[in-house]
Amino acid sequence: MAISDIPKTLWWDETEDGRPAVFMVDQTRLPLQGDVLSCNSYDGVCLAIRALAVRGAPALGVAAAFAVALWSETEGAEIEDINEYLNRLTEVADEVMATRPTAVNLFWGATRIRTLAFGNTDLSLPDLRALVLQEALNMAVEDEARNRQLGEFGAALLPENCKVLTHCNAGSLATVYFGTALGVIFTAFEQGKIEHVWVDETRPVNQGGRLTAWELRVAGIPSALIADNMAASVMRNGWVDAVIVGADRICANGDTANKIGTYGLAVLCKEHGIPFYVAAPSSTIDLTIGDGSKIVIEERDPRELEGFTVSGFFEPDSADASRAFDLLTAKGPYEVPLTKGHQMVIDRKGGAYGFDAWFKMTPPGVDIYNPAFDVTPGELITAFITERGVIRPEPTFEMTLALTCMGSGALHELDLER
Ligand code: MRU
Repeated sequence: MAISDIPKTLWWDETEDGRPAVFMVDQTRLPLQGDVLSCNSYDGVCLAIRALAVRGAPALGVAAAFAVALWSETEGAEIEDINEYLNRLTEVADEVMATRPTAVNLFWGATRIRTLAFGNTDLSLPDLRALVLQEALNMAVEDEARNRQLGEFGAALLPENCKVLTHCNAGSLATVYFGTALGVIFTAFEQGKIEHVWVDETRPVNQGGRLTAWELRVAGIPSALIADNMAASVMRNGWVDAVIVGADRICANGDTANKIGTYGLAVLCKEHGIPFYVAAPSSTIDLTIGDGSKIVIEERDPRELEGFTVSGFFEPDSADASRAFDLLTAKGPYEVPLTKGHQMVIDRKGGAYGFDAWFKMTPPGVDIYNPAFDVTPGELITAFITERGVIRPEPTFEMTLALTCMGSGALHELDLER
């Protein structure tokens, strides 16, 4: 077990028929099924984004760039007129950006490709397409490099024998590779500084319980899962030295959108005197938004809260059972006739069977409010850990944030005393 055993989240390749494709680990089914999805069209990538098969702000940035590049390499390759190419590319980028509203990286990824295309109209169309693809591939490589760099900056902030708490999944799976909040934890662990990690389950989609818990186990890092409502008492017991989370959008004043429940943790940290760190690449900074009140918060399907989803495998325990399941799935996925609104679909997976189930927990007719993110006020954040350095809320904060965002090379000094 090692950090290097965590698979890459998404990558560009060809499917067996030689067509270009975006590949991704299907995060809706992890950790009990490790399916890899391949998308041969940009709208397939859009579907995967909406369904959370690929998720996490930095991964969404690269997925968005890949989606536009995939369009360019498929439908776009049929277009011969540059204006038509650029117009259609803009429409595709808009469609990609409409998949989820909160993580700014999605907009950053699609816009970076669009800006590049519009800035190179002197090229021939084949050369422009090659440039677009190369940019998307570069973004995937940059993502890992950024995470490793911010991991170094973040690890330097943590004390020896550190007990950390994290929320949602800001791990390798939320990026192309290595992670942001977990990138800091992985780096600190390699330096021998991590004693224990508390993993918030992160209802309703359980990114913590399913994805972060899995990554930490694969990496061999001592950790324990808690339900979200247990964090306060774990802190009061003195078992948390730092909270580290990721971010979906950081505004000019430091207000930060992240997975629902993050704000509560920041308030708890203030009460208990625990540092609260946000680890995010500069692509998560949005200087066009002054404060958190203007961030669009995604509301998701009430079903996420009404019940829970489980995916897994089974192997029939007798020849008779095997024959029965073969028969049931002979014509494709078999929907088990469950009562009370529960749902289960069984399908063949190699020599075994996979199941995707949704179990309803609430009584019928209950009203549901299901925001996917909340906003933590900047003043509750001890520091932002980026690939360009550590930024603290102080009088020069907005200037430092702007310089970090523009990648101007103005690194903020690490101030380990505060
Ligand atoms: O809805 P999700 O799973 O995309 O939400 C993910 C988060 O909120 C993460 O904490 C955030 O994107 C940072 S990932 C490095």
